[in-house]
Amino acid sequence: MARTCTSILLIKVSFWCCVLLLLLWADSAITSPVPPKSAIASAHPLATQAGFKVLRQGGNAFDAAVAVAAALAVVEPAGSGLGGGGFLLLHQASGRDVMLDAREKAPMAARRDMYLDETGKVIPGLSVDGPLAAGIPGLPAALVHMAEKYGRLPLSQCLAPAIRLASEGFVVGPRYLRQVKRRFDILQGYNQTAAIFLQHRRMPRPGFRLIQKDLARVLETIAQYGRSGFYQGWVAKRLVDSVRQEGGIWSLEDLRRYQVIERQPLEGDYRGIHIVSAAPPSSGGVVLLESLNILSGYFIHRLSPVTIKHLVVEAWRRAYRDRALYLGDPDFIAMPLSRLLDPDYAAGLRVAIRQDRAMPSDWLNPAPEVQEGADTTHFSILDREGNRVAATLSINYLFGSGFVAQGTGVLLNDEMDDFSIKPGVPNIYGLVGGEANAIAPGKRMLSSMTPTFLETPQKVAILGTPGGSRIISMVTLAVLDFAAGFRPSLWVKWPRYHHQYLPDEIQFEPDALSPSEQSTLQTMGHRLHPLARHYGNMQAILWDKNSGQVEAASDPRGEGMAIVE
Ligand code: DON
Repeated sequence: MARTCTSILLIKVSFWCCVLLLLLWADSAITSPVPPKSAIASAHPLATQAGFKVLRQGGNAFDAAVAVAAALAVVEPAGSGLGGGGFLLLHQASGRDVMLDAREKAPMAARRDMYLDETGKVIPGLSVDGPLAAGIPGLPAALVHMAEKYGRLPLSQCLAPAIRLASEGFVVGPRYLRQVKRRFDILQGYNQTAAIFLQHRRMPRPGFRLIQKDLARVLETIAQYGRSGFYQGWVAKRLVDSVRQEGGIWSLEDLRRYQVIERQPLEGDYRGIHIVSAAPPSSGGVVLLESLNILSGYFIHRLSPVTIKHLVVEAWRRAYRDRALYLGDPDFIAMPLSRLLDPDYAAGLRVAIRQDRAMPSDWLNPAPEVQEGADTTHFSILDREGNRVAATLSINYLFGSGFVAQGTGVLLNDEMDDFSIKPGVPNIYGLVGGEANAIAPGKRMLSSMTPTFLETPQKVAILGTPGGSRIISMVTLAVLDFAAGFRPSLWVKWPRYHHQYLPDEIQFEPDALSPSEQSTLQTMGHRLHPLARHYGNMQAILWDKNSGQVEAASDPRGEGMAIVE
């Protein structure tokens, strides 16, 4: 009898052990804690390959990010570089998220009216072309900080692929030639710039090999001396001398004092998706989360495609207005962030939205117009430990200020133009900005860069794009695509539409709105602005923990490359 009882007990225990094991197995199959593969999507094949080289040498996502960012500085010089800055969103496998704020800063000699003449008028081009347009760069400091604090390999190993690309050169693609054409005059205007980026001072021909020996030396100096290799010593001296010779206002002290800031990213939720995105001084996260908060009040999947587009536009109209009204550098101004990100605030905005009528932007409280430049870059990385990087880096317009500091190969940004050059009054491009984003010494200019992570219990996405003020609307559309279950190859590809409060118009790529959608939107009261050119260059990664699949996609509008391995 006792033996029968023991056997029954044993059977019961074995049964429950099996159930427990099965549950544990199922749980790990459903939410596998680490990705089976790593992935990199960037705007240039050579940069993606540089990242993988470092991963294969035992580096983690942060080492790879140093390699990719440095390589992009060499192979995509029109978009980002050592003379610029950006925002790098990092996720450590332990679960910690942090944003490296490597945004450029106004030099200490900057003044709020520095781009105005004595009569108070904006001097055309001064905040865009030449060394006076350049803020103090942040990218070199970010590379060193990321490698030292988050990476595993020596900085020199992560910079090696970029150093080689710069000193040996690479053959440029058609995109480079198109970009040079658009900024040819400014590139030709400075001897040292023309000597590097043009071919015998003329338009480079297909097959042109871009060699950047000086830049290679600067990268080597950073590899050897870390942050002081750029912000002190011979590089700093040449940067400052060259800038000042051509009318700029940088000082050695500006460079010496530059610091990357670790900031808490912004977080929010949309229909079960947890969103982690850029915090001020980027407006990206605020505008993205505010737009999604407004949209979360609708059963979007039950609405017609044209009604969805109308509501998305109405959400952007309100969120972009708040961008212009309130946002700037958090170290200089107070911003009502908790209000702007509160679902109740969004609900208040939502009640004034009609599903069948556009509301003219000038019916909302007035705020200044925003718009930005024509190039920048983004890359996304996932490693097999589950570390992630979403980084959007910029020198602002194509080839930044067009000014290379003599003997350095470093092309300087023209990010000063992201400040409100004259608060409240339109500048030469018809752009005006708010008081919150006025120029002040040592201040960071407001940005739209929106590196973003999306997370549900089953899925993780890493994404971002260049595109000036349209960055935020592109990322919003990608979040909606993610929410609807589409794959990254479609987020990066589908035609895009955009509204940014002012100008009060829907800008859209060819094919983004069908003829019948266009006429419905016009009947609702929207003004339409069809764009001749495509925009954006999104780089995205999706890890599906359920299936264990990792996908990466590079925007077909660019010539980037996504690899999963
Ligand atoms: O920080 C910003 O928002 C701008 N400087 C970014 C410029 C940009 O994305 C241009 N890209 N196409």
